[in-house]
Amino acid sequence: MWVIWVMMLLWWPTTSSNVKPGCQEKCGDVSVPFPFGIDNLNCAKNESFLLTCDRSKTPATLMFGENITTLNISVEEGIVVASIDSAMRCYNESGLMQETLFDQSIDLGGGLFRFSDTRNKLTAFGCDTLAGMGDWSGSFVSFCGSFCSDNRSVSMNITGDSCSGIGCCQTPLPKSLNSLNIILDTISNHSQFWKFNPCDYAFLADESFNISELKQSIDLEPLKVMKSKITIEWVAKEETCEAGKNSSDYACGRDARCVYSKNGQGYRCLCNEGFRGNPYLPEGCEDFNECEEPENYPCEGTCKNTLGNYTCSCPLGMRGDGKVGCQGYRILTIAAENNSLIQVLGFEVSDDDAEMEEIEEVAELAKRCLSSSVKRPSMQEVAEELERLKRLNYNFSAQQNSEETEKLLGESSFSNLEITQQDTHSVNLSEIENYSYSI
Ligand SMILES: *[C@@H]1O[C@H](CO)[C@@H](O)[C@H](O)[C@H]1NC(C)=O
Ligand SMILES: *[C@@H]1O[C@H](CO)[C@@H](O)[C@H](O)[C@H]1NC(C)=O
Ligand SMILES: *[C@@H]1O[C@H](CO)[C@@H](O)[C@H](O)[C@H]1NC(C)=O
Ligand SMILES: *[C@@H]1O[C@H](CO)[C@@H](O)[C@H](O)[C@H]1NC(C)=O
Ligand SMILES: *[C@@H]1O[C@H](CO)[C@@H](O)[C@H](O)[C@H]1NC(C)=O
Ligand SMILES: *[C@@H]1O[C@H](CO)[C@@H](O)[C@H](O)[C@H]1NC(C)=O
Ligand SMILES: *[C@@H]1O[C@H](CO)[C@@H](O)[C@H](O)[C@H]1NC(C)=O
Ligand SMILES: *[C@@H]1O[C@H](CO)[C@@H](O)[C@H](O)[C@H]1NC(C)=O
Ligand SMILES: *[C@@H]1O[C@H](CO)[C@@H](O)[C@H](O)[C@H]1NC(C)=O
Ligand SMILES: *[C@@H]1O[C@H](CO)[C@@H](O)[C@H](O)[C@H]1NC(C)=O
Ligand SMILES: *[C@@H]1O[C@H](CO)[C@@H](O)[C@H](O)[C@H]1NC(C)=O
Ligand SMILES: *[C@@H]1O[C@H](CO)[C@@H](O)[C@H](O)[C@H]1NC(C)=O
Repeated sequence: MWVIWVMMLLWWPTTSSNVKPGCQEKCGDVSVPFPFGIDNLNCAKNESFLLTCDRSKTPATLMFGENITTLNISVEEGIVVASIDSAMRCYNESGLMQETLFDQSIDLGGGLFRFSDTRNKLTAFGCDTLAGMGDWSGSFVSFCGSFCSDNRSVSMNITGDSCSGIGCCQTPLPKSLNSLNIILDTISNHSQFWKFNPCDYAFLADESFNISELKQSIDLEPLKVMKSKITIEWVAKEETCEAGKNSSDYACGRDARCVYSKNGQGYRCLCNEGFRGNPYLPEGCEDFNECEEPENYPCEGTCKNTLGNYTCSCPLGMRGDGKVGCQGYRILTIAAENNSLIQVLGFEVSDDDAEMEEIEEVAELAKRCLSSSVKRPSMQEVAEELERLKRLNYNFSAQQNSEETEKLLGESSFSNLEITQQDTHSVNLSEIENYSYSI
């Protein structure tokens, strides 16, 4: 019972929250971590981070502003992945079909949000197509053109994944862009192409853009407005970390650090190394147990979680940094195969500064000694092995991590060790357990 209870304490997942108390964590499938909040202004840092959840749709849809559907929010990366409509123009035999014209216009509202300049590109698709983008103030304009020589053009029969410039073009975005107009135009009047390329499209597309998929959905629904995924980057505040830390309105909580955006001014927050959670909540960053993730936090010996880090000590008799690798002979393996449990346990554990590791080692040793399945070496072999270890220990005694070895193989305990046969099964296991837990 004792043991089970202790294990539950250690392994119970910490129910760390990503939102303010009493606030909703999700809208549909999308998690909404603080500083973002849904519907209620008390749940968001301020109006800039307030999103609406449209529950009239199934699944419920998270909206950023009026026309931007939010698909994912990452605190770690400081991004929002969203979906917007593409600009679109369709043509018939005699020219532009006015009723299906759509030019996209988006404002991210304020400076905290910017289109990612590294992940998004303006992308146009069509055979006689000129796409333009600019910000709302008109301080920046950029174009890309896409043309085909005829209807057999590779671009309209796409086998690859790239947007090559024939039938599809892409152009990058400037930094700090937070409003965008996208327009479409044509050089000639599309008369050559309208039969097999009735509509042109222009949109922002992030890394997930796949031209084959686009082509497929155009083939399925030729006159429908396309959606595209975009990546929006955000900061907590448009000021320096120094000024932020000085102000009463500093965005980062305890055990969190301040990092700068690579896309425009301002900072955002990350949990310190060794902590996880939401860095924007006052106590959102929490220590986690590295020892439970040996693939990320290696340890060859005894792993122990500490606040914001972990320690790893090599097994008794071995030396080195357990996080990197231990050298030497594992005394326990050899000693545990011996029959003499009581003698091996006869080192000083009752010190005030006896380490938990030591107790764990003893428990492990006891387990091994009592296991009848272990193949026991001959007495002669054991004696020789221990003698060798003693010499080894002596030679390395100046080195780190040898204190434990000394404790086990130290002059006093070793010289008192007598080579006498004993019945291991006479040792009462519960006594050892009680001994361990009473410390
Ligand atoms: C959001 O992104 C994270 C990684 O960035 C991913 O693990 C998660 O599945 C995504 N969630 C949705 C709903 O797409
Ligand atoms: C479109 O352009 C072609 C030549 O490029 C011309 O022959 C045709 O009359 C034009 N059609 C319209 C509707 O303007
Ligand atoms: C092409 O579209 C225009 C504008 O909608 C319309 O006036 C015209 O009749 C259409 N032409 C054909 C051939 O459908
Ligand atoms: C949302 O889209 C509609 C129609 O496209 C447009 O009139 C409106 O201005 C857009 N709203 C915002 C905030 O961009
Ligand atoms: C492509 O153009 C050729 C002539 O250049 C024509 O014979 C063929 O029907 C066209 N195909 C389509 C799908 O428009
Ligand atoms: C696409 O190109 C291949 C040859 O590369 C051709 O066999 C196939 O018929 C083409 N498909 C269309 C729809 O034009
Ligand atoms: C693009 O989509 C096609 C069809 O769905 C798929 O076969 C291909 O692997 C995708 N390419 C990438 C790079 O994801
Ligand atoms: C929200 O807070 C940020 C940082 O304090 C600030 O830059 C922004 O203007 C605020 N938004 C509103 C709508 O007050
Ligand atoms: C921080 O605050 C102190 C006193 O309020 C002020 O003297 C100092 O200049 C401030 N530092 C920054 C970087 O704003
Ligand atoms: C954890 O401890 C090691 C020393 O064992 C140190 O090098 C490392 O920087 C620490 N990591 C953190 C996040 O404090
Ligand atoms: C320990 O050191 C002594 C003398 O330096 C040497 O003779 C002996 O072989 C060493 N033992 C081991 C196990 O390395
Ligand atoms: C191993 O156990 C046997 C039997 O209990 C004992 O005689 C012997 O001394 C032990 N060997 C060492 C080196 O302690």
